[in-house]
Amino acid sequence: MSEKDVPSGISAAQVSQLKEKALEAAKNAYAPYSHFYVGAALLLEGGEILAGCNVENASYRLTTCAEQNAVTSAAALYGPSVRIRAVVIVNLNGAASQPCGACRQTIHEFSTEATEVFFPASDGSFTRATIAQLLPYAFSLGNE
Ligand code: THU
Repeated sequence: MSEKDVPSGISAAQVSQLKEKALEAAKNAYAPYSHFYVGAALLLEGGEILAGCNVENASYRLTTCAEQNAVTSAAALYGPSVRIRAVVIVNLNGAASQPCGACRQTIHEFSTEATEVFFPASDGSFTRATIAQLLPYAFSLGNE
């Protein structure tokens, strides 16, 4: 990917760095049930980078996704006004890995109109989309 392939203000170098951080996090995934190992790295408005992985549970519905864990860590570390510039999702399975619907809503909560999500197809290429493209009609209480 060259710099000009990423015209959003996020450089190709930043995307590569986020991929590396996401891969590192995916290695910590706790996925003894699905064996699907996901990592998600966030670039925050302040330039900070942090990542999360999926953490499963024997009571399956308690499983938390990589994106959810990354976003809740960002809020815990940087406070309620934290904003996400970009999210990069990877998995160690070589599979396509779109963010699930719940993760889209979770990312949306701390997003701006410019927030972008990069997620892999099974051929290793990445799709890039804004959170608004991924989640039109996001839920809100209508009082913002
Ligand atoms: N998973 C994620 O981490 N992110 C998603 O957006 C979808 C699914 C995880 C949850 C579970 O541990 C495994 O992938 C299989 O669903």
